[in-house]
Amino acid sequence: MNMKMLVSVGALAFTLAGTASAAGMSGSDEDVVYAGKLWSAMQSGGLVGKGSLMSTPYTGVHPHGAILDTIEAPLNVGGETNVVIIKRNYGGEGVGKQAVADDPAKWLKAVTVMYKRAGLDPETKDWFWVKYAPDGSVLKNPKGASLAGLVGKGAIAGCIACHKAAPGGDLVFNHDRYK
Ligand code: HEC
Repeated sequence: MNMKMLVSVGALAFTLAGTASAAGMSGSDEDVVYAGKLWSAMQSGGLVGKGSLMSTPYTGVHPHGAILDTIEAPLNVGGETNVVIIKRNYGGEGVGKQAVADDPAKWLKAVTVMYKRAGLDPETKDWFWVKYAPDGSVLKNPKGASLAGLVGKGAIAGCIACHKAAPGGDLVFNHDRYK
């Protein structure tokens, strides 16, 4: 079977030939395409983009940013409903909680997302990780690898390597609801 899909990720378009395979290493074409679907679903649900739902901004810790806001919701992607945790990372000269609350778009630097994707990788609790630019394009690390999928699995630095230290063994720092 050789399917061709065209999915737009932010302003960029990627063409992927072949069927979707289970994500192994992070940053594959399939991971980037899935990240695009995830962004579209979040956008349709009013969770990212202009006028999206947000929480009260709080002071952040490295590496996520000076000011953050985090929301969590059930989200349907490709027919399956799972939980998504969205952390928006704000920064820039003069940033502060009030400034972000007044005009979030002005300070938004990146959107980091964890999405539970059933069966993806039980060892890392099936979280799919992405770091997006504010326009929904997938950001890359300094080596040019796209930050989507099992980012930081194994010896590689990145999301999973750090989130493994989260209490409760669920890779979520804020609570232990998904143990
Ligand atoms: C060096 C450690 C570190 C790295 C690397 C890291 N994070 Fe986090 N992350 C944290 C900490 C600490 C928190 C909880 C504190 C907070 O709210 O910022 C957190 C919170 C989060 C949350 C909210 C859910 C939770 O765990 O409480 C999301 C979503 C998230 N990170 C996504 C990502 C993504 C996606 C990446 C990779 C692109 C990433 N993180 C990389 C340390 C890290």
